[in-house]
Amino acid sequence: MSPGKPQILFTRSDIEERIGQLGAEIGREYRDKNPLVIGVLKGSFVFMSDLVRRLDFPLEIEFVRLSSYGSGQETCGKVKMLSPLCTPVKDRHVLVVEDIVDTGITLNCLFDILRKEKPASLRLCALLDKPSRRRVPLTIDYLGMTVPDKFLVGYGLDYDEKYRNLPDVCCLED
Ligand code: IMP
Ligand code: MG
Repeated sequence: MSPGKPQILFTRSDIEERIGQLGAEIGREYRDKNPLVIGVLKGSFVFMSDLVRRLDFPLEIEFVRLSSYGSGQETCGKVKMLSPLCTPVKDRHVLVVEDIVDTGITLNCLFDILRKEKPASLRLCALLDKPSRRRVPLTIDYLGMTVPDKFLVGYGLDYDEKYRNLPDVCCLED
């Protein structure tokens, strides 16, 4: 793909409004549960920071870095965890935060790894979903927006490590 000029798909204010709604929904479920909110690096870093600031109750934050190749601590098929989680997951209410779900393979593997640690509950919050690309079944408990099968950048999402700092979610193709 040779990238064109990024075209805005969701403006920062569209995203802000949707995150406010997600925050309210998540609050209803997690307010008294001191959840462990785990962001999937790198893509989720912007969404994660906006989302947790809309959650006005006690919670803890953790990050996980995954790789689909190379050596790692724990593995599930092709996906590996690049370093162990510093916070124990056992008996915690875990909410995984991801930028975009595409084939679903990455999160399916992460959920298999986390389930082995026996969390009290395990749910997923994703800003974006590309359902037309799904290869493995995956439930998104809290979803921002459904998107078409286009390559997206900005608001944490990259193309070859570029564009993560764009404040809006943009499309690279026409
Ligand atoms: P999956 O395992 O195919 O669901 O891969 C999901 C990961 O691929 C996401 O966490 C993103 O890092 C990356 N990804 C998928 N689609 C896009 C996109 O349109 N733009 C940028 N990254 C993407
Ligand atoms: Mg990602």
